[in-house]
Amino acid sequence: MHILELNYKTQSDSEIESLLYMFINSYSEEDFMASQEIIDTEALRKILQHNDLIHFIAYEDKTPIAYCQIIYKAQSANFNSGAKINAISVLPSKRGQGVGLLLLTEVINALESNPKIKNIYLDVAKSNETAIKLYKQLGFQKAGELKNLFTKNDVLIDIETYSLNK
Ligand SMILES: CC(C)(COP(=O)(O)OP(=O)(O)OC[C@H]1O[C@@H](n2cnc3c(N)ncnc32)[C@H](O)[C@@H]1OP(=O)(O)O)[C@@H](O)C(=O)NCCC(=O)NCCS
Repeated sequence: MHILELNYKTQSDSEIESLLYMFINSYSEEDFMASQEIIDTEALRKILQHNDLIHFIAYEDKTPIAYCQIIYKAQSANFNSGAKINAISVLPSKRGQGVGLLLLTEVINALESNPKIKNIYLDVAKSNETAIKLYKQLGFQKAGELKNLFTKNDVLIDIETYSLNK
């Protein structure tokens, strides 16, 4: 397995198609992720080209099996919130095999090599114990909690923020 920061400009049409397959299939009903936002190549291309987003992809041979999306406003001059891990997902058939851990480790290494990024943070559903265990394993510490912020299946859920300071 190898992990790459995505360079949109070098992606061929067939690579975009295989990324789309991965994005569409990396959600399951039980997941705490927004789904059905990336439904076609047009929607995918828009997200992949967004100025404030960085995408890391885990590949098995040439097949994308997991992704991590970062929000980082590199152009922001005087007030910068750091880099936010906005999404991470592994194809359901590839979970529990160390892919998420390796992907996030590489993402953190890449972000930490940028001296302007002083903080890496993320929001996670309080009940997403799998993800929280992974974040804690990598040194993230709980920075706060908001009650009843989002809904999942129409039920309000609590959100925790985790932060990794340099
Ligand atoms: C969270 C997620 C990215 C983890 O990826 P993964 O490849 O399955 O995780 P790994 O195999 O690398 O495991 C890394 C660590 O995560 C935790 N973990 C993984 N699967 C777990 C499970 N089923 N139960 C509890 N902890 C688990 C453990 O701490 C594990 O370390 P360990 O093996 O030393 O115990 C993956 O489960 C996923 O895509 N979930 C759905 C999307 C999601 O919830 N994303 C997070 C949104 S904030």
